[in-house]
Amino acid sequence: MSAIDNNGEIITESRDHVLRIKINRPEKKNALTRSMYAAMADAIARADDDPGARAVFLHGTQDCFTAGNDLKDFQAFRQDGNNKDVSNFLSTISRAKKPLVAAVGGVAVGVGTTMLLHCDLVYAGEGAKFSLPFAALGLCPEAASSFLLPKLIGHQRAAELLLLGQPFSAAKAYEIGLVNAVYPDSDLIDKAFNQVQKLVQQPPASVRITKALLKNSLSQYIADAMAEERKHFSERLISGESDEAFTAFFERRKPDFSKFD
Ligand code: COA
Repeated sequence: MSAIDNNGEIITESRDHVLRIKINRPEKKNALTRSMYAAMADAIARADDDPGARAVFLHGTQDCFTAGNDLKDFQAFRQDGNNKDVSNFLSTISRAKKPLVAAVGGVAVGVGTTMLLHCDLVYAGEGAKFSLPFAALGLCPEAASSFLLPKLIGHQRAAELLLLGQPFSAAKAYEIGLVNAVYPDSDLIDKAFNQVQKLVQQPPASVRITKALLKNSLSQYIADAMAEERKHFSERLISGESDEAFTAFFERRKPDFSKFD
């Protein structure tokens, strides 16, 4: 069964025990709007409730995973203070009961990288580019990345990625343990889907229990980190620093943070 949400910006398909979610807004580099987050969260929650769904497979278009949160939506927060779809999506992926498999081709900016910390299997195309430009945008980490990233790679390496926000390659993502394997870009989706097929042939209850056991001991820490980050993130979204960063992006210029203390 296929479903198209948000004018085709999120496409879901349930077939052969796999719920597939495709991020499909190529003209905006798959930047995620509120309604796209809501559609993805709904789909993941549906898979959790559907006894026939054994895994969720998440990917973008051929050469783009996602450019992260839609920066116009971030700007809109200044007026309406609404970030609930993002929070709900992050909380849903962090608590998902069925295994999440991601295939990352092209850019994975911001939440495009942090959401991977909640996935179980992650595959990247050779040309994938990851980045965590939260501080660079006048923001702060989200999705419990301030907790999960140093846990994965140690403080200094996490600090470098989060404080400087420079893009890093698929090879580096593999080296730090963020992705399971790197495939040629043209084979990425097929090769990652092969892994999904292996997963759904495993005994489903054992898979669910194994995932729960892997995740349970951290779940409270993750929820606490997200709550703490959310508080600061909301303040950062209305800061002068983020205003300058978002404005500079749309004016296609370098931001100037020299006037801030
Ligand atoms: N939010 C809103 N629009 C975005 C976007 C985002 N996160 N990322 C890209 N777009 C839009 C651009 O404004 C542009 O729209 P336009 O054609 O109407 O001008 C279009 O998508 C193509 O983007 P462009 O920057 O021209 O593509 P590129 O290939 O040169 O660069 C990126 C791709 C992803 C490196 C670059 O777009 C980028 O840095 N985006 C912002 C990423 C970001 O900061 N995300 C938030 C993380 S918290």
